[in-house]
Order: sequence, then structure tokens, then C-alpha cells
Amino acid sequence: MKVLVIGSGGREHALCHAIARSGRCERLYCLPGNAGTARIATNVPLRPTDIAAVVDFARGEQIDLTVVGPEDPLAAGLVDALHEAGLRAFGPTAEAARLEADKAFAKTLMKQYAIPTAEARVFTDFRAAKQYIATRDVPLVVKASGLARGKGAIVCDDPADAILAAEKMLVGGCFGEAGRTIVVEERLFGREVSVLAIVEDHTLYVLDPAQDYKRLKDGDEGPNTGGMGAYCPSQVLSPATLRQIEEQILVPTIDALLHEGIRYRGVLYAGLMLTPGGPKVLEFNCRFGDPEAQVILPRIRSDVLELLDAASSGRLEQIEPQWDPRHAVCVVLASEGYPDQPVTGREIRGLEAIEGNDVFVYHAGTKVENGRVVTSGGRVLGVTALGETLEAAREKAYAAVGRIHFDGMQYRRDIGLTECKVQNAK
Ligand code: AMP
Ligand code: GLY
Repeated sequence: MKVLVIGSGGREHALCHAIARSGRCERLYCLPGNAGTARIATNVPLRPTDIAAVVDFARGEQIDLTVVGPEDPLAAGLVDALHEAGLRAFGPTAEAARLEADKAFAKTLMKQYAIPTAEARVFTDFRAAKQYIATRDVPLVVKASGLARGKGAIVCDDPADAILAAEKMLVGGCFGEAGRTIVVEERLFGREVSVLAIVEDHTLYVLDPAQDYKRLKDGDEGPNTGGMGAYCPSQVLSPATLRQIEEQILVPTIDALLHEGIRYRGVLYAGLMLTPGGPKVLEFNCRFGDPEAQVILPRIRSDVLELLDAASSGRLEQIEPQWDPRHAVCVVLASEGYPDQPVTGREIRGLEAIEGNDVFVYHAGTKVENGRVVTSGGRVLGVTALGETLEAAREKAYAAVGRIHFDGMQYRRDIGLTECKVQNAK
């Protein structure tokens, strides 16, 4: 098969890495890719949201399967356009991707079909939002309804903060079009987990859960980021809670969409809060998480290309993926100034001969410049290791991190740490 992976992050490098291992993969392209994907795929210098150009390329190269990593091209209708051109793709159509790209739509759907989530109201008018917020005496979260690169949710301490956030979005236009509609919801408390499933219409395959670390600094301090690390399988979710999430959240959501005439195919990612009242949805994403993909994909022992191909062609039901029982830990190395204003163009040293012995260095914001690998984005590398125990995986990942250097490099030291301490205490 000729396969095209869309995107340029650690998730896409992990996808390329998993797909390249398949005996069925004859040619692999990554669009636009990074310095890491360039070693195992042919990078294609096009923009993922330039739908016409991507479809032209896929048609010209007779691509058998296009796997779309990020949300923007999904929301912009890349999968629809590929289908129209008679090409196969892994990922939801634009209508189905509204589950992530249009939070007001997702909220309304959840409310209508009694899917557990935070109580919320949708606003386009600031005065109405202000009036509502002033009458609420619970902590609130104000969210831009559209795509805002993970920065669109403002967790507020008091009503004055919430009114200010609503004003910035609706009047100040701080998130542009994405913030012209907002969702004001009650703040939930508990442990956050991500559960991802591969979905094909009525068929759903729940992946081993991964634990993401969204805050920049150790101990969950500092600003929210795209994700500073992850481990898999999560130690936070019991099998019973996972089943509850499947039965009360994931299945009802795809059924609700089908009831509305929308078929869902691709990854359905539920960001959840484990509240005292049970798991509740914080948000849906319509794609693999990043860095979650960097700890989930290396643990899938069976052919990942076959899994994605089956899910795009009516055969998901026939697949029973095998998992590597070992634990995976991913530590993200980010640029100075990330997430606000990452400094780029710095040379990365120590990448040579670091891989092997179940250590994988997934590239994100990297590019080759004059024969050197340099930083080119906020999140630069995801260093993933597999180990018999979470502790062993952690040690291996951090040992590899210790050999990599670029000026201003930031990373968390506590990925999986609390869980290791809990395990050791048992
Ligand atoms: P979202 O983009 O909706 O996932 O929000 C980003 C982050 O904001 C989440 O990962 C949570 O940490 C936090 N968040 C979002 N909604 C809520 C909520 N209702 N209660 C508490 N925290 C929230
Ligand atoms: N790690 C969170 C995300 O991919 O949205």
C-alpha cells in the first residue's frame, strides 16, 4: 500500500513509525512532516489545510490510504474531499469533526442525548453571557467554541474572571472567529483522563488509556500546553470505570451522531473528568491525542496499518489488535518560551545512536538546516521508552532525555512519577 500521513508533530512521527513497520506498507509519505519523519518517509512540502493541493498529490501518487493526524484539515473537510476524489482516508468528515471543532454543537448534542458532561450554556452575545455569569454562584469555565489550539478554555476562579474571559472572546475577538460563540460551563473537579477509541460507524474499539500531562511544569503547575508527556496504560482508570466510559459516553455519542445522520469514522478522543458523580466529558477530539499517540502506538503489537485500513473500509469488527503488555512513557522536550512564544532555530545535539533498546525519539518541531537538526516549534521531541514496569520505562526515557540537549530545553521530571511511588508503596 501507498500511505500518506498528514501532519508534522510527534503524533505523526509515531504514526509513520508504526505504519512503516507494517509488511503491507510499500511507500510512505508525510505531509509536511519533520526531520524525524524524513528518515522513514518522504516528506511532502504542502500545507495540510490546502485541501485541493493535498487531494491532487494523493490522486497523483495513487495513495491507497491517507491518515489525517491533526484537527484543522479534518475540520476543513480534507476527508470529504478525498472521498469525493474516490480516495480512502482514516479520519472523520468535517460534519463529524464538529464534535471537536464546534464545542457548542458537541454540548448541545450531549445535552440532548443525556451524555454526562458539565452543565453549560452557549452564547454569542456578551450582554447575555454577562447576565448569566452574574447569576451563577459556582466556579465556571469559559470556552471558545471553535478550534483554538488547546488554549481556548479559561478556568475561572470567580464570576469577574469569567465575565472578563467572555468579554475578551466575544467583544475583543481574542480567538478570532473561534471565539465568536462561547460555551460557559460549570467547573468540574477530579482527575483528568483521556480515553481514545477507533470508531467505524457502529463498531468501536477502545484503546488502552493514556495519561496526559497538560501543564508545563512539575506538579501540574504553570500554563496549559498541548501536552508535556504521557504514559500508557493509565494507572488511574479501573477496568470497571473504563467500561462505564465506553457504555455511558463513547457508545451513546456515536449513536447520537448516527441518530442525527452523521457517521463517525476515525479516532474518537474523550477528554474526561473523573468526578465524584462519575466520569464526565470535558471535550471531544476527533483525532489521536499528542503526546498520547506516542505512548499508545508503540504498544500496539499488531499491524497498525491494517487496523487503520480496516477502520476505513468496513472491516474494523474483524480486527482484534494485540498489545505489548509493557509500559510506555513519553517525555516531551519543549523550546524555551513554550507555550507562549517558543524560541526556535536552536541546534539539537545528542540524537545520534540514542534509539534502540525500546527507546524511540519522536520528532515534532524539528527541521534539517545546513545538515544540522534544529528546533522549529514549541514541542520539539517526544522521548518514548518501553519497559517491563512503569518505573523501568520512566528510567529508560529519562536516561535518553539526559543525552539530548538544545539551548533553553524545558521538560517535566515527573511524568508517571506519582504512579511509580504508589506502585512501590504497595
Ligand atoms: P478543553 O479544551 O475543553 O479540553 O479544556 C482544556 C482544559 O481545561 C482541560 O483539559 C481541563 O484541564 C480544563 N477544563 C475544561 N473544561 C473544564 C471544566 N468544565 N472543569 C474543569 N476544568 C476544565
Ligand atoms: N494531548 C492533548 C491533545 O492532543 O489534545
